[in-house]
Amino acid sequence: MVKITIDPWGEFLIKDYEKLIGQYGLEPFTDSLLKKLPNPNKLMRRKIIFAHTDLGKVIDAIQNKKDFYVLTGIMPSLEQIHLGTKMVIENVKYFQDQGAKTFVLVADLEAAATRGVSLEEGRKRALNFHIPAYIALGLNPEKTVFYFQSENEKVKNLAFIFSRKITLNEFRAIYGSTEPGRMMSSVLQVGDILFPQLEKRMPGVIPVGPDQSPHILLSRDIVDRTQTTFNFVPPSGLYNKYTPSLDGGLKMSKSKPEYCITIPEDVNEACKKIRRAFSGGRDTLEKHRKLGGVPEKDMAFELLKQHFIEDDNELKRIYDDYKSGKMMSGEIKDIACKKLTEFMKDFEKKLEKARNIVPSLKFIK
Ligand code: TRP
Repeated sequence: MVKITIDPWGEFLIKDYEKLIGQYGLEPFTDSLLKKLPNPNKLMRRKIIFAHTDLGKVIDAIQNKKDFYVLTGIMPSLEQIHLGTKMVIENVKYFQDQGAKTFVLVADLEAAATRGVSLEEGRKRALNFHIPAYIALGLNPEKTVFYFQSENEKVKNLAFIFSRKITLNEFRAIYGSTEPGRMMSSVLQVGDILFPQLEKRMPGVIPVGPDQSPHILLSRDIVDRTQTTFNFVPPSGLYNKYTPSLDGGLKMSKSKPEYCITIPEDVNEACKKIRRAFSGGRDTLEKHRKLGGVPEKDMAFELLKQHFIEDDNELKRIYDDYKSGKMMSGEIKDIACKKLTEFMKDFEKKLEKARNIVPSLKFIK
């Protein structure tokens, strides 16, 4: 087996998601698991969720109406999010709707330690943008516990206690790097992930992109090693694939802005990018009609599939028409542009509304 080292702060890329399975505790997201999830969301149904860690515990809690939690963190480095964050929130919302106690923290200390963002700046961005954005994407603020890492004494205390439970070599083996700021952020993140269990021991799920999987592995190791003191339940992970770069690359990234769509983004700019996106169309109209398009390679189709079409039947119709050659790649791009425009407009409206809610939110300390 090829050993893969994931660096959560770098440009982690892996061509083949299958290769990640079996490493970092990732297990395949199978049909039989999917069947056990009530009303699975589109990311689950379409296998954009490709792996999990120990999700059985969480499914058991859902089915038997036992307590469990879902948790995610905000990285307040810029006043924008990417499409990957949108997927994570979709999953957080899913578990919230299934009755999970929901925790959203602002990783202001991590942003300071790894990206040089001051605590003041991180706080401002989170209040003005990220928290309202998460609410705009569907999180229920009344059912969500928010906190700042810098203000949560209990999380910081956990991080110090946990720091005794990992060696430099293990850290290097999991993360590939041993920069002090990153090491501190990692043990702190383990503190975040286990904090909800200080109130009550219970299963919890952390939906993430593959780059965050080392933190879940480390959390599970630390749960093992602190069993006699804390008796925490090992947290579960749920992993979504990346949204590909519009040029067909594996991951959309700001390092290639011409192929990257952020939230928010000017819709005219975004549509221009979609027009230039890699398509699964054939060279000529004649060939396309005869051979049909390749939706699997088409970035506009991928956007629809991952982000902008909820209804499976609607997506299937587009898939079939494209594959049969009835629909041209330009038409898929038109649809993607139209749906993206609707999404961005709706998002801006909801963001404004959510900003009014922020002053009434209580942040636990
Ligand atoms: N490291 C995460 C990021 O870069 C932020 C984060 C901090 C987080 N604590 C967390 C994510 C706990 C999930 C769970 O986005």
